[in-house]
Order: sequence, then C-alpha cells, then structure tokens
Amino acid sequence: MMAEPAYRIVDRLRIDEAAEINQLIRDLRATPATIEPKYFYDELGCALYGAICQLDEYYPTRTERAIFQANRAEIAAAMGQVDTFVDVGAGDCCKALSWLPYIEPKRYLAIDIAAPSLDTALTKMAPEFPGTEMLGLATDFSKKLDIPPELLAGRSLLFYPGSSIGNFTPDRAVDFLSQMRRYATGGLLIGVDAKKSKARLDAAYDDALGVTSAFNLNALRHINRVIGSNFDEKKWRHIGQYNEVHGRIEMHLEATESQDVDIDGMVRRYEQGERIHSENSYKYSEAEFSAMLRQAGFADVTVWTNEAKAFWVFYAV
Ligand code: AVI
Repeated sequence: MMAEPAYRIVDRLRIDEAAEINQLIRDLRATPATIEPKYFYDELGCALYGAICQLDEYYPTRTERAIFQANRAEIAAAMGQVDTFVDVGAGDCCKALSWLPYIEPKRYLAIDIAAPSLDTALTKMAPEFPGTEMLGLATDFSKKLDIPPELLAGRSLLFYPGSSIGNFTPDRAVDFLSQMRRYATGGLLIGVDAKKSKARLDAAYDDALGVTSAFNLNALRHINRVIGSNFDEKKWRHIGQYNEVHGRIEMHLEATESQDVDIDGMVRRYEQGERIHSENSYKYSEAEFSAMLRQAGFADVTVWTNEAKAFWVFYAV
C-alpha cells in the first residue's frame, strides 16, 4: 500500500485560466507589448531562477541569507511565537528552511504559482519537520492574495523574502503589502533590495554566463506552450538594465529582426529593435520602503541590513 504524503496541496490555479490567457494575448498584441513576470516560472524557469541566485553577480539572495544568519536570534525574538509560517512565493522553499528550526511553527504554508515546485519541496521537507503540519497552496497571488481561512491557524507570520516585492510597481506593492497585512496577525518578514550603483545592478541582471538572458528568453517558450504562439527565441535578445529615473531594473526582450508572430490566430508584426517589457525590479531606500509599510497599515517597523547596506530585511507588525 502506498503511504499517504505527509503534506497537502490545495490547488487554486485553474480558477481564472481563460481570463489569464486573454490578458496574455492582449498584452502581446499591444504596443508596447508586455509579458507578466509570472510567465518566467515554468519548470525550467524555476530552475534558471535557482541558477541566477547562485551567480556571483546576483547578490540579493546571498546578501539576504547573510543578514538572516547574522541576526537570526534577534529577528526570531522580534517575531515572537508563530503558529502558522506563511511562505509567500515559496518556490523551492529553501529560504524558509533556515527559519523553521528556530521558529518551530505548528504549521508551514507554502504559497506559489508553480505547483510542481511546491510538490517537490514539501515531499522533501515533510519528513524533516515531523512536528510541523506541511501545507501548500498553488495560486497566482500576483493579482490578489486569497488565502482560504482554514489554512491559517493561530498567530500567522507572513514571510516574503528575496525582494519579490520589487517586481510590483510601487502602488501595487503598497496594495500587496496591505493584502498581506490582513493575514499577518504575527507580522511580516520581508526582504527588499536596496538602491545602489548602476554598474552593480546592471551586472546582476545581465550576467556574464547569460543565465538571466536564458531566464528571460525562456518566457517566450513558456508562452508558446500556453497560447500556441510561435515565438522564435533566436530572434530575440535579453535586455536587463537599471533605470535610474524610475529606480528600477527593467528587463525587456528585444527583436533582433523584424518578424511576424502568430498570436492566437492573428499575426502580430514585431519590428527590429521593438521590445517586449517582461519585468521591473524596483530598488528602495530604507526610508522609502518603511514609508510604504506604514502606508500599508503596519505600525511598528524594524530593519536589519549588512555593512554595505546592499539589502534590507524588515519585520513589520
Ligand atoms: C524574483 N525576483 C525578486 C527577481 C528579481 O531580482 O527581481 C527576478 C529576477 N529577474 C532577473 N533576475 C532575477
């Protein structure tokens, strides 16, 4: 007899599939064309993102990890007792792993758009933390964070590391912080990338090995599978540059030649040099992000950083 898995995944992904596809088609036909960053994260895209996090140039992941390590006890004390540890955008769950032995929550709830990543991670984690109930929620929270109340128990800490908040525009980031606050009875622990030199930021998003380029171009393959389009990634190139005026990295896919692409039965001509905007990654000063947390309704804000002030870790309640 097969053993029951020691975790449970609630799948909410299918709910708005038709609307999502229509939106994607509209975005690709529009001028300027755009792609929502969630289309980076098919199985290969998740693996490529994992590789990005290991690049010398991509400092955010290891800087955040170092801040967590250097301040673990202090941060844990600030958070106090946690009954449900809610990992928003959990991916492979590895960032939460380092916290679980310290916090010992009754329940761990991993939320992500990539259901296969949740499955792989929870299969591995469940036997390692027998005292913690393991749950997964597969959902696209980029539009609305909707956590079924039965998945939360007691005091809930929301964990949103990796500066994923930077992938929202500032207005939408405040809105998303407000949404998280509704569930965060035990506060929010969030990692945020800091503003820094253009040279350092450009290198982080256009690395020498071309991993970020592959991550960006892979969105075209993913989209071809989702809507049956015929993008040829060989006719596109990756752009990842810091825009100092907007305080954000902009990622684009740029057409290296003029081409016709079939998008849901209609031809869209992309001219040489035309760009599809695929991601923004906003960078914030400590003061800017503290103000956003307060705007979202958090009254008490504490911050940790490293010596170079390259990254912020906020606990807000
Ligand atoms: C997921 N997110 C925080 C990453 C970032 O830095 O904005 C995504 C990424 N895009 C290119 N490299 C990494």
